[in-house]
Amino acid sequence: MNVNRRHLLTGTIGAAAVAMVASACASEDGGDGSGSGKKVGIAMPTKTSERWILDGDNLKKSFEEEGYEVTLQYANDEPDEQVSQIETMVGQNVDVLVIAAIDNKSLSGVLAQAKEQDITVIAYDRLILDTPDVDYYASFDNTKVGTLQGTYIVEALDLANQAGPFNLELFAGALTDNNTKYFFQGAWEVLQPYVDEGKLVIPSGQTELEQIATENWDGAVAQERMDNILSNFYQGGNQVQAVLSPYDGISRGIIASLEGNGYTTLPVVTGQDAEVESVKYIIDGKQSMTVYKDTRELAATTVDMVVAVLDGNEPEVNDDSTYDNGVKVVPAYLLEPVSVDVNNYQEVVVDSGYIDAEDLA
Ligand code: BGC
Repeated sequence: MNVNRRHLLTGTIGAAAVAMVASACASEDGGDGSGSGKKVGIAMPTKTSERWILDGDNLKKSFEEEGYEVTLQYANDEPDEQVSQIETMVGQNVDVLVIAAIDNKSLSGVLAQAKEQDITVIAYDRLILDTPDVDYYASFDNTKVGTLQGTYIVEALDLANQAGPFNLELFAGALTDNNTKYFFQGAWEVLQPYVDEGKLVIPSGQTELEQIATENWDGAVAQERMDNILSNFYQGGNQVQAVLSPYDGISRGIIASLEGNGYTTLPVVTGQDAEVESVKYIIDGKQSMTVYKDTRELAATTVDMVVAVLDGNEPEVNDDSTYDNGVKVVPAYLLEPVSVDVNNYQEVVVDSGYIDAEDLA
């Protein structure tokens, strides 16, 4: 029995129904052992962010239910460490590699070795660039993540009706992550017209990806940059009214900086990943929103892809034009991100079973 989890988990069913179906899958679909004897190597970037721990756990569990032998490794956000972990997996003759790359351009060599051994390679969440040796891409609509963040700022400041000008600062993720530019482009497309119109101003003047990027997606790095921005461009009572932040860990760094600099009323601050700490911040009114991406669905999509490929079938994809990795357009299955704030967190992240209510207490 090859249960296609993606069809069960997505579509128009509500969050609560998703939770019920997800738990039904866990008990009913104990896997049919079709992966019996097959090996999968999973390379995740870091344990410093909650989402990758969930991704790794979900993938491991789902592959094991299908009868696969699983090796799961985390590489402390060190590209070299990830390359050597993948080399070891190739040496163990895995049948499949599922990789969330730390540095999207560092894997060509090891993936060439993988291809020589006919290993199927799935780029997980983050596209791997400059190599022909990546077969499929499973992710979310990354541009839409940015669109949701930008739109939240526009609506929270009521830019359709207010003249402003409002002060905005921009943050982006790591330049080594292919998603970074999609997130930023999605947001900037929404925000830029208001900057052009003068309703939004960026006192730091920092709008280029290279200026606003955050090494390793590290909240402490973002905190330091926000400190610098506040001391250099916000003297004399000038206040920040909105901060575009791509990821919850970065948002919390920005908020720490603002609080450290005396802000009692915080600006609009976006985020991504629905991390427990940030959902708490949303409930407390410190962070405005996050973008929820159900990592259970992403794991299920990935397992479906792998089962199809190893059964000699074409996996289902829903995008064969967006993700050009410099060598080829990688066929992708993209899931939908959801904007979450204080008004819908209960339904979207708690009722769906993604976060336990007691973890938010
Ligand atoms: C992921 C985001 C995550 C970020 C930092 C990105 O590649 O798509 O969900 O917030 O990495 O870990």
